[in-house]
Amino acid sequence: VAPLRVGIAGLGTVGVEVVRLIERQGRVLTERTGRPVKVVAVTARSKAKKRGIDLSGITWAKDALALASDPEVDCLVELMGGAGDPALSAIDTALKAGKSVVTANKALIAKHGLKLAKAAEKHGGALNFEAAVCAAIPVIKTLREGLAGTGISRVYGILNGTCNYILTRMEQEGLSFDECLKDAQRLGYAEADPSFDIHGHDTAQKLAILASLAFGTQVAEKSIYVEGISSIAPEDLKAAAELGYRVKLLGVAVRTAKGIEQRVHPTMVPKSSSIAQVMGVTNAVTIDGEGIPPITLVGPGAGGAATASAVVADIADVARGIRAAPFGRPVDKLRATEKAPMERHEGG
Ligand code: HSE
Repeated sequence: VAPLRVGIAGLGTVGVEVVRLIERQGRVLTERTGRPVKVVAVTARSKAKKRGIDLSGITWAKDALALASDPEVDCLVELMGGAGDPALSAIDTALKAGKSVVTANKALIAKHGLKLAKAAEKHGGALNFEAAVCAAIPVIKTLREGLAGTGISRVYGILNGTCNYILTRMEQEGLSFDECLKDAQRLGYAEADPSFDIHGHDTAQKLAILASLAFGTQVAEKSIYVEGISSIAPEDLKAAAELGYRVKLLGVAVRTAKGIEQRVHPTMVPKSSSIAQVMGVTNAVTIDGEGIPPITLVGPGAGGAATASAVVADIADVARGIRAAPFGRPVDKLRATEKAPMERHEGG
């Protein structure tokens, strides 16, 4: 069987782990998908940088666009980040050439997902972005496939590993916000620009994607109320603890009679609640399905290895020949998102 030839754009924390994982899991991937998966080409900002991976025998493409147009590449894996170019034109080019694309880029999917999904639909490639939301937790697949037969009324949870890591360490160790953020950056959890994490935009982008899949609506990041955690100090967490609460940054999307309500903000949750037990870089997503009790998925929400796990699973789907509608249904079946007025809530 012909191998699936993969081209990777971006060799940062995640890209390097993807190369390692494909190498390590090569035999298993072939067994599972019926087809070998081979990294044939890569590109990144610096060719000279030491990365601790063996790239011998792999083509170094001039840039992402060259990789996307390389006829030797069947599947473009975009791990550069950034909501616009060069990632956007590389993905667009690959899709229009009928290739499949795997990306971890939530900012880009939140902003241009619809247009790209249309291109994927038209030209027959896959557009997979499991790694864009909650890293290793298969929440996209859960909403798209696992719950395809179930009406969904609410999706909410802790969607940003960096913020939960900061809040956890501030509470448990009394450390300053800045110290905790530095550690989150050092550990490879934070975005290249960490203000996206701490001001809640990363959570909002993920929430927008989840809401689209849950409710069959177009991604609408702009209609989300967003408040981050940057003004929270250890004393605030201490005060909350004395009252029996923990502070968590939650993303919440609810279907209401008036439309879809979407919001991101720090929330006091009772210490005894299950969401309060989610500590460190861990994420948790709860899905309320009609006629069934809530489903909660918990797991590593950031970091190179956790994100690579989802990227490689998406590559495996491409190797299997699966071409799922990116947002769970054809693009012209996605309804416009009607924004519901926000009501006051206590907790998620
Ligand atoms: N910066 C993100 C986070 C990475 O901390 O959750 C994973 O999307």
